[in-house]
Amino acid sequence: QTSSSSMSPPSSSSTTAHFIGKKEEIVKAGRVTKLVNRCRDVLVLYHQGQLHAMDMRCYHAGGALQHGDIEEFNGRLCIVCPWHKYKITLEEGEGLYQAVDDPMAKPLRTYWRSKGVKQRIHKVTEVNGDVYVTLNDSSEAIESDTYQTERFRTGSLSA
Ligand code: FES
Repeated sequence: QTSSSSMSPPSSSSTTAHFIGKKEEIVKAGRVTKLVNRCRDVLVLYHQGQLHAMDMRCYHAGGALQHGDIEEFNGRLCIVCPWHKYKITLEEGEGLYQAVDDPMAKPLRTYWRSKGVKQRIHKVTEVNGDVYVTLNDSSEAIESDTYQTERFRTGSLSA
């Protein structure tokens, strides 16, 4: 029986490194999704020489981040959710929004600001060409936890 993790972080027993795949395969694929520790759908992606891992479904409404483009906003790499184009930083999982400092200014100047951490980011490690993910089990609720309940999970992603 698997435990349901409704709106909660991964359990503390999950602080082990879980094997995801061979680095060369992840590099070739660019993105890999995997059900980690039978409790969390995680997206692992490779971009500009770096591996990143985060909850697979977008914190906004559960969008499929594995199909998002990676773009830079204010020098920060973000995945852009394909559903409603929310921007999420790869490093911290922060949601970015566009703000204006002076609504009367012409031309209008806009900035990317942070809404805080919205997407749970996980730790990726590489050992001898094997890639592992250690789930971020911080007890602080993060919005993307909403889409990690069994209702949203797909067993087909397990391996
Ligand atoms: Fe990702 Fe709406 S679900 S932007």
